[in-house]
Amino acid sequence: MTFSPTQLESERDRLFDKLQYVGWTCKDCEIYAPITLEINQLKKEQDAIILAHSYQSPDIVYGVADFVGDSYGLSQIAAEHPAKKIIFCSVFFMGETAKILSPNKKVFVPSRAGCSLADSITASDVRKLKAQHPGVPIACYVNTSAAVKAESDVCVTSSNVLQIIEALPGNKVIFIPDKYMAEFVRRKSRKEIISWDGVCIVHEEFTAEQILSVRKQYPGVEILVHPECSSTVIDQADLVGSTTQMLKHVEQSKNDQFMIVSECGLSDRVKSEFPKKKVVGACSMCPYMKSIMLKDVLIALKTPRPEQQVTIPPEILKRARKSLELMFELSHPTNHQPRKLASSPQPANLIRQEIHQSS
Ligand code: 13P
Ligand code: SF4
Repeated sequence: MTFSPTQLESERDRLFDKLQYVGWTCKDCEIYAPITLEINQLKKEQDAIILAHSYQSPDIVYGVADFVGDSYGLSQIAAEHPAKKIIFCSVFFMGETAKILSPNKKVFVPSRAGCSLADSITASDVRKLKAQHPGVPIACYVNTSAAVKAESDVCVTSSNVLQIIEALPGNKVIFIPDKYMAEFVRRKSRKEIISWDGVCIVHEEFTAEQILSVRKQYPGVEILVHPECSSTVIDQADLVGSTTQMLKHVEQSKNDQFMIVSECGLSDRVKSEFPKKKVVGACSMCPYMKSIMLKDVLIALKTPRPEQQVTIPPEILKRARKSLELMFELSHPTNHQPRKLASSPQPANLIRQEIHQSS
């Protein structure tokens, strides 16, 4: 594809407008302009949308994504958007979740990136847990494979975990696979929580000492923590929430200094979208999320490699869908009827990227 000097120049400026806040130079943006232009053109031609998790690198978030958000918001978009094709820039389980919710769409991932939580448990592990605790409901975190979701009763995300666990019948729940999130729930709920030993290698790195030293250095700083962190870190938080909940908080808070106790992509979003607010302290990088490259997004649109297309055996898909549908239903407790995914309103907890509207 060839583009005129004017098109390339205006694409470079569009990228620089956001990427300058995360250390990109005008020259960097000039180098990336032809590829983002090509991807955005192919999207239009193919009736495709690009969904990107907030942990994706800024060239993806501001260069090509149509929607950027947390696992919950992105899965709602995947379920409801009329596009024929979805390219999901994130770890593989999110692409699988999109396929489960939109089985008639073609869903592609730039690469099959893992996740230390999703990789910590198999469907056979869940069957064994069920045999050990007959009749106890199983809630699985969205960071799991389709096969694990198929063995579970309900799926949860970091934005609705407490609400959903409370809504389940009985006073015992099996919660898999994140042991730290299980501990977070255990401390908030009267239910007995049976947990698994999975961890997020990224959020596990943070320590309470790190946060105390940031508080000392920046008095008045607000500490925003993802619930995949350990309880000693959560104890230091001003807010515990999903990636989108943290971002919303930054937007609404009168404060102007934040420590984002999460992946660096989220800190980058704060820097780019709220340049007047200051991000302090260290973030942590997810090697899985950051293995997604723009060149692979282009390949997924142009000449997809077989492993880029997400396919799920129909029997697994059908059972996994039930656990996601129950999640949507329990996330909207006023809905007594099963939620009609196709006719739901625009999700509220997602930030729409307006940057492609004129391209
Ligand atoms: P969110 O649901 O908050 O986007 O988190 C997903 C994730 O992988 C966090 O590590
Ligand atoms: Fe998985 Fe942690 Fe990376 Fe999220 S940040 S994708 S939970 S390894």
